[in-house]
Amino acid sequence: MSIRTVSTQAFSDQKPGTSGLRKKVPVFQQANYLENFVQSIFDSIEAPKGATLVVGGDGRYYNREAIQIILKMAAANGFGKVLVGRGGILSTPAASCVIRKHNTFGGIILSASHNPGGPKEDFGIKYNRTNGGPATETVTEAIFTKSKTITSYRILDAADVSLDALGSSTLGEMKVEVIDAVSDYAELMESLFDFNAIRALLSSGFRIKFDAMHAVNGPYAKDILEGRLGAAAGSVMNGIPLEDFGGGHPDPNLTYAHDLVEIMYGDNAPDFGAASDGDGDRNMILGKHFFVTPSDSLALLAANATLAPAYKKGLAGIARSMPTSAAADRVAHALNIPCFETPTGWKFFGNLMDAGKVTLCGEESFGTGSDHVREKDGLWAVLFWLNILAARKQSVENIVREHWAKYGRNFYSRYDYEALPTEAANGVMQHLRESFTSLTGKSFGKYSIKTCDDFSYTDPVDGSVSKNQGVRILFSDGSRIIYRLSGTGTEGATLRIYLEAFEADVSRHHLDAQVALKELIEIALNVSELKSRTGRDKPTVIT
Ligand code: G1P
Ligand code: ZN
Repeated sequence: MSIRTVSTQAFSDQKPGTSGLRKKVPVFQQANYLENFVQSIFDSIEAPKGATLVVGGDGRYYNREAIQIILKMAAANGFGKVLVGRGGILSTPAASCVIRKHNTFGGIILSASHNPGGPKEDFGIKYNRTNGGPATETVTEAIFTKSKTITSYRILDAADVSLDALGSSTLGEMKVEVIDAVSDYAELMESLFDFNAIRALLSSGFRIKFDAMHAVNGPYAKDILEGRLGAAAGSVMNGIPLEDFGGGHPDPNLTYAHDLVEIMYGDNAPDFGAASDGDGDRNMILGKHFFVTPSDSLALLAANATLAPAYKKGLAGIARSMPTSAAADRVAHALNIPCFETPTGWKFFGNLMDAGKVTLCGEESFGTGSDHVREKDGLWAVLFWLNILAARKQSVENIVREHWAKYGRNFYSRYDYEALPTEAANGVMQHLRESFTSLTGKSFGKYSIKTCDDFSYTDPVDGSVSKNQGVRILFSDGSRIIYRLSGTGTEGATLRIYLEAFEADVSRHHLDAQVALKELIEIALNVSELKSRTGRDKPTVIT
């Protein structure tokens, strides 16, 4: 076995976004494409010789091939050991858990999250640092800079390593340890939640359905829900990870998790339903004929946190992304703990958690998490809910309705306009920014505008400032309209409009969100001139 230095030429498009480098599989399959990026990572992170690395992915198409390349390159770049999940599998939260538990020099996660997989679909790669969270912007910038000037990479000439049996082997001087993908994560979950209480709930006739969407969480859910907690066989559906996610779109929302939604809204529906995404970090929570918005879910977990052993002593604070509804703020206020409003994206939460300022965090886009890892965590949210349900012995719907009665209801919806011409989308944002002065003080029926701004965030830990994070129209009664351009869309521009109306009156809590938000939606379309500027009169997706 010998180390080979391969001459290469730089690609110009390897700029990692907030979730790493995401491209179509054929792009990654170009000669030297993945290798260039991996070498750029290794050259940027300054790992000490003999360091340990974690490697795993969500099992999508090209996962295994990529892992073989990364292993041989890690061996040629001086790593002493790599922990790799069996079959090359690690969910994103499990990878974060393994990095933290084994104190490794970070890890490489292969995933394109909730995007479809397959030979013509998406693939992705990112480096997570030693705290288990995504690399800092300084590191991703360094990786990108390196990728533009790279002229060679190092790789070991060796046969592929078997990833299917647990245990150690060597690759040159490096040790490869194939670990059980589930056990470290499952042990962490057992340490956080009252598994005895959940077991008792599940044996009392309480029925659950978890849709793994043919993605990475299948084995995790089967081991934990059906194995350790004794949920009836078949409680986990679509539980075998497939390279193309069965042709589906592994994103847990009312549109894409339609199999589960049909069951939960059908006759004889189970008591609790949930789904997670491609790499297992997102979650959707359902009750019998009932949908819990991610914003409400965060608020509710916070309000009931002390029912779970890990959070018995209370929370240090809560953080939510700016477009997420202010339902969590109301709970934080009642608990007399701080609530942080951060820009969209998970990286802002990591700093707050490392500094001990927050325990729980969440986004309206089906992401919830806590300081147990440094990624959002789908199955963790499901177990947290089951813990609360076991303690309160009420239905999902009753728990949510009681929450609204106590704190008020934040009606919430998001409208996505996908694949807009970039210029038109930028035009909408520009027009809004130019309208701040004329809009301030203006009234539309019962709504009057208090202020408008472009959200800016100063990180309370490192002082860094993030500007232009979304246009906010804030109304006197606490209602909000927010406009933001997506940072993850792959075609043209995606404009998101987030709508939120606060309602204290319990007699109006039964209303459908779209009905309750009707006036705000009209205002949002009107002031943005969306239709005339983009030609669209209907959103692509409403959540
Ligand atoms: C979307 C979500 C955001 C999430 C990100 C990564 O980003 O809106 O909350 O953190 O995916 O999962 P966006 O496309 O809005 O930039
Ligand atoms: Zn994801």
